[in-house]
Amino acid sequence: MKPLIAGNWKMNGLSASIAEIQSLIEKLSGSAPEDRDVLICPPATLVAHFAKEFSDEAIQFGGQDCHENEGGAHTGDISAEMLADVGAGYVIVGHSERRADHGETDAAVNAKAQAVLRAGLTPIICVGETEAERKAGEAETVVGAQLKGSLPSTESELVVAYEPVWAIGTGLTPTLEDIEDMHGFIRAKTPTGTRLLYGGSVKPGNAKDILSIDNVNGALVGGASLKADDFYPIVMAAPGGR
Ligand code: 13P
Repeated sequence: MKPLIAGNWKMNGLSASIAEIQSLIEKLSGSAPEDRDVLICPPATLVAHFAKEFSDEAIQFGGQDCHENEGGAHTGDISAEMLADVGAGYVIVGHSERRADHGETDAAVNAKAQAVLRAGLTPIICVGETEAERKAGEAETVVGAQLKGSLPSTESELVVAYEPVWAIGTGLTPTLEDIEDMHGFIRAKTPTGTRLLYGGSVKPGNAKDILSIDNVNGALVGGASLKADDFYPIVMAAPGGR
């Protein structure tokens, strides 16, 4: 399976941040890693700008969220069709920050994932337990329920990102064994061919170990995706398409 290394810029990035994309492309062009997919999900304000500027490059762009509808009276929201229109290839849905900040339920995430597919794009559906849930031994139960509720039934390509909430932005990660166990669990509950990403404090220093784990087909990277100097070594740490 071809690895996918995705950067989630969250609410970071202005027009000037295009310099980081330029730098990343320069680094990538030296080594032409065609055996891995590279994706940056900048804020919605930058998707069109980046996708137009770099349409011929070995890097794709995506959204961080979308509304479930195609259009209509939903002030402040954007649709998957709008993201597709400006050149996005993927949309992250159900990130834990959206689940927490905007009360997104599994059903809402499922509807958004369906909207992404409707627009002809690939959804990256996020799941993951909180620290309290892991400590209570409920990690698999929680993730299993999120998968059941959030994944649309489809023949189209899906990407699932396992992001333990307590590992996001904290510098903490599960043990390699815990990641392997959870990804094995998720593999058994997702359609054949689904790429499974790990996310949560992926850095240049731990990327190789994490990306070498069975059933880890890539990473969803937050903080370390903002700088080309950090993101490039993570992209290169993925074993070639397998
Ligand atoms: P960090 O890599 O900053 O921990 O963020 C992970 C994340 O939430 C990616 O979606």
